[in-house]
This record gives sequence, structure tokens and C-alpha cells, in this order.
Amino acid sequence: MTPSVNLSSSVLSTATQVALVDALVEQGWYVGRGVIDQDLCHALHRELLHMADHNALDEAGIGRGQQHHLRKDIRGDAIHWLDRKSEAQRRYLMAMEDLQQALNQSLFLGLFEYEAHFAHYPPGAFYQRHVDSFRGRANRVISTVGYLNPDWPADGGGEMVLYQPDDPSREVARVVPEAGTFACFLSETIPHEVLPTHQPRASIAGWFRRNASLGGVLDPSR
Ligand code: OGA
Ligand code: MN
Repeated sequence: MTPSVNLSSSVLSTATQVALVDALVEQGWYVGRGVIDQDLCHALHRELLHMADHNALDEAGIGRGQQHHLRKDIRGDAIHWLDRKSEAQRRYLMAMEDLQQALNQSLFLGLFEYEAHFAHYPPGAFYQRHVDSFRGRANRVISTVGYLNPDWPADGGGEMVLYQPDDPSREVARVVPEAGTFACFLSETIPHEVLPTHQPRASIAGWFRRNASLGGVLDPSR
């Protein structure tokens, strides 16, 4: 009998998934260091740097659909939505499908879709404090961020800061964007920001979504 290989299990282990679910329930956020496979981080990082070098990234904006517009004073990253075109992307997305199942099984969240983009922050870029989903518009339910930067220096800046929902002046976590680190939090309630980075900074930001319609119009997915 040939052993079946579960590719996604090497990306986020079952133990990581269990710790993540527990942390989400207890505090609404999770941060794990060294939990994403280094080879995968390396492959994804190379892919993003290649796109950055070939002008294949789009300046990120804020707002969805018709409301979408650029605001460099709010966020300065450039992005590319994951499209499954590489083995590395497919592996990452498979791991997220696996995580979606674990979240649905233990928390009955009814998550049905995952969307994610590569993000490249050039030196000086930041993303001001925000929440990823507006209350009542149950579109984005759980946010994820995977970091891809090998050897992040202590003075590299670019940390993601998470704040207490009922007291947004209170910092609850500061996440160094180093390869292997994976963060996850409730999209509607956890304010967060990206501090100005001093180094080119690479991440994959993603969201598990619930099917949401507003006035009979299916919520646009990006
Ligand atoms: C986002 C975001 C955080 C990060 O894209 O909404 O908050 O660390 N990203 O890249
Ligand atoms: Mn965000």
C-alpha cells in the first residue's frame, strides 16, 4: 500500500491548527512562529519578488468594487491576488482549505470561501490601523497573514500590531514579519496596523468569508 501524503499537513500542522482554534476562541487572535514550512515560504517569497521586479503588482487601494480607490496615506503596499498558477500557491491555498475545514468543524463558522493576496511593502510603506470587515457586513470573518521574509533584522520595522477590540489604544500583540510566522484573527473585531517598514516586506494577507448578500446583491468578493 502506498502511503498517502497530506501536503497541507506540512504547511500548518494539526497541532498548530488546534492551538490556533483555541486562541481564536479565547482571545480572538493567534500568532505562531515557525509554523509555515520554510521551503514553501522561500518559494512564495521568490514568486513575489519576481512579480515586484517585473511590475506585475498592483498598487493596493481601500474599499470594494465601485468604492475602490488608492490612498497612499492609508496603505502603501502593492498586491497580487493568488491565482493558483504555481505549485507554491496551490500548496498554501490547500493548507488554508484544510484550516477552513478545521475552523468550520470546531467553531461552526460556515466559512465557504478564501481569498488572499501577496503584499509587497517597499521601504517606508505602512498600513494604518483598520479592521478588515465592517460589522454587520459578515463578509470577511477570519483574517490570516503569512509572512515570507527570511532573516528579518531587529530594526527592520514593519511589525503588524494587533489591538484590543474594546480599547483600541491597548496593544495586544506585535508581530515580526519573519518567514514562518502565521497570524490569524477575527476580521470584524480586531483593529490592527502595519508599522512603517525599513526593508522590503513580503506577506500573504487572506480572508475566510461567509456567503453574504446585501439587498439581494451578492457581496463582491474583493
Ligand atoms: C491587510 C493587513 C497585514 C500584514 O492586508 O489587511 O492588515 O501584516 N495586512 O500584511
Ligand atoms: Mn488588515
